[in-house]
Amino acid sequence: GATSFKDQRVFKTSKMKKFLVIGNPIEHSLSPMLHNYWIKNNGIDAIYEKQKLNENQLKEFISQIREKKINGINVTVPFKKSVIPYLDELSIEARNTQSVNTIYFKDNKIFGHNTDIVGFETSVKKSKYDLTNKEVFILGAGGVVPSIIFALIKMRVSKIIVSNRTKEKTDNLKNLFQNIETVDWGKIPNFDMIINATSVGLKKKDNINLNFSSISKNKFFYDVIYNPKETNFLKTGKNLGNLTLNGKLMFIYQAHSAFNIWHKQKPNVNENVIKLLDK
Ligand code: ATR
Repeated sequence: GATSFKDQRVFKTSKMKKFLVIGNPIEHSLSPMLHNYWIKNNGIDAIYEKQKLNENQLKEFISQIREKKINGINVTVPFKKSVIPYLDELSIEARNTQSVNTIYFKDNKIFGHNTDIVGFETSVKKSKYDLTNKEVFILGAGGVVPSIIFALIKMRVSKIIVSNRTKEKTDNLKNLFQNIETVDWGKIPNFDMIINATSVGLKKKDNINLNFSSISKNKFFYDVIYNPKETNFLKTGKNLGNLTLNGKLMFIYQAHSAFNIWHKQKPNVNENVIKLLDK
């Protein structure tokens, strides 16, 4: 639910630390469930909530970090870029992707960092797939794509090709990362790994209007979506004989990294945590 100002006064007088995720929409965010589970498991005196905001509320809301009314903020769609003017300092990851998902207060400064990058990187590493010198094809050009590209470059892929339904949206990506290539929506270039970073698949019946039937086996199909667990994109990939992975571990490990920044503890990622997000 929404946090009232009354609630905030209650927290201000308490020692309990307060964290939250901001976005719009925000109802479906699973971050509170995951963080509160880890908070409880590690015996930390804190609470993690969610808050729906409008863009014109960002400045005032973030200033509560300086006043220590809030101890940390996760940022989700559509504010990962628009929070930047209200922060004092960005990490290299946040600056190079122009994307912030984790805010914290240190040395009297409001810091912005991007843990989606390490989330993506860790999820791929856990799958034991070696991305070195691989060619990667990304579908979509939305908020999470700069983070994925940053991680792919870090993992030393040989080529990154992006395709987006609305072609102009790839211009922003080309400004951030000069070496990426783009292809028109509908064209399928050669690739070793393909990533669905569109919102197509969030509804179970959603189907991407691309024809993968002519691609050979043993590719890696990765979907940023984790609910539903297996999108039609992943089903198709699997049926054609490819390795598949959904975005659940990416989500868990971005949260894991934010938790470590705020609480200086590395929470457990075990079967229980993974099950928490199955719904
Ligand atoms: P935002 O664009 O606000 O960052 P997002 O959820 O991060 O939102 O991104 C949605 C992505 O899914 C976009 O790349 C979008 O393509 P457009 O830029 O053309 O809108 C893509 N997308 C959504 N619906 C789609 C569809 N039916 N077919 C293809 N791509 C789609």
